[in-house]
Amino acid sequence: MKYSLVVFVGFLLWSCGSDKKARMAPAEQWRPAYHFTPPAGWMNDPNGLVYFDGEYHLFYQHYPDSTVWGPMHWGHAVSQDLLHWEHLPIALYPDSLGYIFSGSAVVDWKNTSGLGTEAMPAMVAIYTYHDMAAERRGDIKVESQGLAYSIDRGRTWLKYNGNPVLANPGSRDFRDPKVAWQDSYQQWVMTLAVHDHVEFYRSKDLLHWEKLSEFGKDLGSHGGVWECPDLFALKDEQGSTHWVLFVSINPGGPQGGSATQYFVGDFDGARFTSQDTVTRWIDHGADNYAGVTWSDIPSSDGRRLFLGWMSNWQYANVVPTKNWRSANTIPRSVSLVTRGATHELKFEPVKEIDSMLTEPRACIKSTETETDAYVLTLGSAGALVLSNEQNQKTVVTWNDHDLTVDRTQSGETSFSNVFAAVHKTDLSGITVKDVRIFVDAASLEIFVNGGERVMTELVFPSSPYRRIDVTGNESNYSIQSLRSSTPR
Ligand code: FRU
Repeated sequence: MKYSLVVFVGFLLWSCGSDKKARMAPAEQWRPAYHFTPPAGWMNDPNGLVYFDGEYHLFYQHYPDSTVWGPMHWGHAVSQDLLHWEHLPIALYPDSLGYIFSGSAVVDWKNTSGLGTEAMPAMVAIYTYHDMAAERRGDIKVESQGLAYSIDRGRTWLKYNGNPVLANPGSRDFRDPKVAWQDSYQQWVMTLAVHDHVEFYRSKDLLHWEKLSEFGKDLGSHGGVWECPDLFALKDEQGSTHWVLFVSINPGGPQGGSATQYFVGDFDGARFTSQDTVTRWIDHGADNYAGVTWSDIPSSDGRRLFLGWMSNWQYANVVPTKNWRSANTIPRSVSLVTRGATHELKFEPVKEIDSMLTEPRACIKSTETETDAYVLTLGSAGALVLSNEQNQKTVVTWNDHDLTVDRTQSGETSFSNVFAAVHKTDLSGITVKDVRIFVDAASLEIFVNGGERVMTELVFPSSPYRRIDVTGNESNYSIQSLRSSTPR
């Protein structure tokens, strides 16, 4: 089954005037045009992001039998461009050791595990087993790490018969292994979330793991449990290497509930040290959680590519979509920005999206579109109102001090008593040059200065926002729509 861009993108019906043209058949309400969603059922965290043989793989926390969280499987899809996804059969089912919680996947190029060959390296998934029977008994040792592998480009998966590969040492929260090969240290490193800190483990063969160190008990945000870490090296603008550590926490995010913090620092093969004690967030909106980066992106590409789950545990199980729940963010490219003596991260939408967009059309103040998905590029300060026929609206305001999203009247909000809120992030220290807003059927992703500050927010308008009003000194902006769908 192919996942293709939905319906309406076929014709460039909108313009900056008010040309009303034939509307197309309605799509499933709130099914996004260019964000990944499961075909049906429940989805949470992206898992096992790995590139192999021309394909980006996306696995995800999935419960196919319901639209609420339940026994976790790994759903699976592949893409050649990060935006058009082909759904594949479920890769991993729960078994006698437990539900299949979050984790990562790597290509074992040197066949260190012996599970493949050098000619056909195994794709290896390392994930958390969550033993529900043990949880019900009140046991502490509920979570352990398991391994599965594929020697046919991820099409079929075998569980390793020596599972678990990392048993629980006595921690109730012991999960979400992110594994990477570190060439400079000739070792595999597993970064694991353990309640209120991260633990690093080392292996030569992916099958035997030895603990290296811990990080974070007294650093970062501790408003909730630590989950879904990621550790990787990134070069700054001058070409110096730094190490980046992501840690999702729930609750305790800047807008309440779930969010992902990050640290920039150093990793010496055994220990991570942070550049400072500041808590930084990869996204200041309410709806970007459990995001991690792709493994095995070819060095000829060289990007560090990120994908997040576009929801928040505060209401993920009750958002009003019908046949499925949850979408992912736009895939984003991560880079380092030097700010004085420290470094921060920048997240910009992958460039692949550009070929899906029409040429920018200049607009002033108000316009009506006839598409549900579009990208707005705006100036350094302003106020934007996106609204629909029911007079539901989301208001975005920004200047050099702050960026605010008001979704109190955004549409359907009654499913949760925290959803209808005003979310604000401080922009002091950032000279705003431009703001780009990616609008899809149920989301806004706001990128300040190409991603120096990001806010991702869900909205559920009863009908799409087709009216755009921009006020303030700078009421000039441009709109791009999606080009016609090109399923492949
Ligand atoms: C994060 C998380 C992970 C866990 C998974 C279970 O959203 O709680 O820590 O592995 O979801 O579905």
